[in-house]
Amino acid sequence: MTTDVAPFIAIDGPVGSGKTAAGRKLATRLGHMFLDTGVMYRAITYLALQNDVSLQDPVALTRLASHAELKLEAGSGEESRVMVESVDVTDELRSPEVDRSVSAVSAVSGVREVLVRLQREIAEKGRIVMVGRDIGTVVLSGAGLKIYLDASVDVRARRRHNQLLESGSDIAFETVLADLRRRDELDSTREIAPLKPAEDAVTLPTDDLGLGEVVDRLEMLARGGSQLVKDGGDG
Ligand code: DC
Repeated sequence: MTTDVAPFIAIDGPVGSGKTAAGRKLATRLGHMFLDTGVMYRAITYLALQNDVSLQDPVALTRLASHAELKLEAGSGEESRVMVESVDVTDELRSPEVDRSVSAVSAVSGVREVLVRLQREIAEKGRIVMVGRDIGTVVLSGAGLKIYLDASVDVRARRRHNQLLESGSDIAFETVLADLRRRDELDSTREIAPLKPAEDAVTLPTDDLGLGEVVDRLEMLARGGSQLVKDGGDG
């Protein structure tokens, strides 16, 4: 019954855990808004690179984030489009330069404060599935449902490698694996809001699950069927 559906759903997890694809599909099934918060950190990184703002200068990065006219469309099931000063920059946010630099920008406390405020304002507009690294621990710490999606580093690297090959890249698997390890380390050891499951999160290992199976389990949890998922469906 739709009356039981959790209104605020926080999904966190490392790179390649499938959280963005699964979160987006879950939002479509539930009729919730969807917000991928990673694109916000990417947008500030893109702006810093465009404007030659040093990635070692937290004051300048915070100023940039505070003055950036970021607009996000958190439509149900849609890709989160990001507009900066009315220009759609979504397609620029996955470039190798942004990939390389975004961990430094997302470690700056002032940048995080600005973006967390914006994320909470978006959540005030209604039912939402929000995806990131600190959604369950910080941004929506009162969310009715918190999920931590996980998978082994090899499985995640393989998924990411396949995505890159499909988009025309000829990058080696070892390069993808090394980059993923580096980003895992940076995301989970930074001082502020490191990647980790919230104490009351349900952790879902996805190594042996396809996207559809992950979304089925998430939907069950969102509709109040936590017992089935926690027990692996056998009791
Ligand atoms: O999910 P992603 O790869 O697009 O995230 C990009 C970067 O932003 C990554 O280094 C982690 C960081 N991030 C974060 O610190 N907090 C969030 N809520 C979302 C992303």
